[in-house]
Amino acid sequence: MKIALTGASGLIGSRFFDLLKSKYEIIPLSSSYGVDITDKTKLERFLSNKNPALIAHMAAKTGVDSCEQDRETDIKKLKKARVYIEDKKLDVLAIDPTEWKNEVSAFAINVVGTKNLSDYAQKNEIPLIYISTDFVFDGEKNGEYTEEDETNPINWYGQTKLWGEKVLPQEHLITRTSYPYGYKSQIKKDFIWSLVDLIQSQDIARLVSDQIITPTFIDNIVYALDFLIEKKARGLLNVVGNNFLSPYEIGIAISREFGIPEIKIETVTREKLYKGRAHRPFKVMLKNDKLRDLGFEMTDFFETLKLIKKGI
Ligand SMILES: NC(=O)c1ccc[n+]([C@@H]2O[C@H](COP(=O)([O-])OP(=O)(O)OC[C@H]3O[C@@H](n4cnc5c(N)ncnc54)[C@H](OP(=O)(O)O)[C@@H]3O)[C@@H](O)[C@H]2O)c1
Repeated sequence: MKIALTGASGLIGSRFFDLLKSKYEIIPLSSSYGVDITDKTKLERFLSNKNPALIAHMAAKTGVDSCEQDRETDIKKLKKARVYIEDKKLDVLAIDPTEWKNEVSAFAINVVGTKNLSDYAQKNEIPLIYISTDFVFDGEKNGEYTEEDETNPINWYGQTKLWGEKVLPQEHLITRTSYPYGYKSQIKKDFIWSLVDLIQSQDIARLVSDQIITPTFIDNIVYALDFLIEKKARGLLNVVGNNFLSPYEIGIAISREFGIPEIKIETVTREKLYKGRAHRPFKVMLKNDKLRDLGFEMTDFFETLKLIKKGI
């Protein structure tokens, strides 16, 4: 099967390419490969030439703080074009893709880029898989989030990723993942390897103890997507790990696994660490029961930590 892969140069996309290139004919697509998803005409021409049977859409503007900086100008432009109706509501049909061509804002890439791909997929009757995020939630729920829970993004990254979900018709697959990590990559340092470097290089590392995240092993994400492609799954699914942990707990686990004295790790509150930065949801425990019920098991965090340390 021929798969067009957006975000092929990114953290998850590059691993998708490496692990599945012998199984599928993967056509990499990202701005570094010369295709900008905000350029609808060029994108459609590229895809028509390649004629993929499926689009795996992993391209996004992912920097939470840099997305936040786009909020004001994006909203101004959306209001002027009467696309932004009122509090967080969009008139999707009023989006004019030419207005956002080659723009690098969060709205241009995460919403218009996704809509451009979705329009091509619909016109050509092929499925699209979209990777979304736990940041569509506000983190205020007292308990775990399922696919049925109400969304309420509290930063521009989460808002634009949610609108990316909304522009897709039902026949596509939306997978929400969170805090992806994996083997040491030349492409991008994930949060686990950033923590390893932090703990190794500082005399005292201060890690947040009042935040809970759902770390997800990237190889699990890739093989879950492969499984879902084979199953022809549609709708919305959480593709996340099994463990809910604070960055402090993760730091302690890393220090044990990598043999770094725990004394070097101290706790800090999220309020102190993220002062002056974009708001983040601080307690997002995503449940993966629906994926498990379909027949796919994610690996335990502490087991994968051993694997990535050994590099095997
Ligand atoms: N990383 C996380 O913590 C996280 C958590 C949950 C969900 N996700 C979602 O998972 C997906 C993959 O994330 P990631 O961390 O692997 O991303 P990443 O490493 O930041 O890579 C983003 C990719 O998007 C491409 N891209 C950006 N703008 C583009 C444009 N205008 N046209 C074409 N390609 C463009 C980039 O290509 P160039 O570099 O060539 O521009 C790059 O390949 C995203 O949808 C993200 O929202 C990520």
